[in-house]
Amino acid sequence: MSPHRFDPARLGRLNDIARLDDLAPGPMWKAFGVPDARLVVELGAGTGMFAREFAARMKPGGRLFAVDSSSEMVRWMTQHLVGATDVEIVPTLADAAELPLDTGSADLVYTVNVYHELDDPPAVLKEALRVLRPGARVAIVDWKKEATPKGPPIEHRSDLDAMTGALESAGFTSVTSHPVLRYHNVLTATRP
Ligand SMILES: C[S@@+](CC[C@H](N)C(=O)[O-])C[C@H]1O[C@@H](n2cnc3c(N)ncnc32)[C@H](O)[C@@H]1O
Repeated sequence: MSPHRFDPARLGRLNDIARLDDLAPGPMWKAFGVPDARLVVELGAGTGMFAREFAARMKPGGRLFAVDSSSEMVRWMTQHLVGATDVEIVPTLADAAELPLDTGSADLVYTVNVYHELDDPPAVLKEALRVLRPGARVAIVDWKKEATPKGPPIEHRSDLDAMTGALESAGFTSVTSHPVLRYHNVLTATRP
């Protein structure tokens, strides 16, 4: 397991509402560019802070699979999020590289502050490509690799060019960087 993976003992910090100042859900959701998404997947959902925010922006009848490999996180989401939103949030215990979802079923796969923690980014991007339907989107939000007042050490962060290259190598097209957040890169790409 990556030494940079988030420690579930620090779960409470993920729920700090002040995080939404720097990670504003509105601009992120707009940048993702899939306002009518019906089946959405979050990789590394943690306590589901963003699952809740994006579920609130989805149209009725949609479903959001909040995937995390930590049973503590999934238990927390099950206790606090299930039934709390109109759009169904489905806490899902799984590794991002092995999703229990059908091929070509998702409209959007996104991840926030997780990419730099991944053990095997190419495997995760390949799996995202598998579950997305043709024309659907993947979105990666992660810390810019530059000095910021908070966030992980710079040497643990992922470089924008490297992420772009990884998306292209996985088979995604139209990789686009959206300058909507101060301290984070927001990248989207399309499943051909
Ligand atoms: C820094 S937390 C971010 C949580 C959430 N995205 C947020 O920003 O509030 C990273 C989360 O990713 C999860 N994670 C890391 N690698 C993963 C993987 N390969 N598959 C699924 N979850 C993973 C960790 O268990 C942790 O809950």
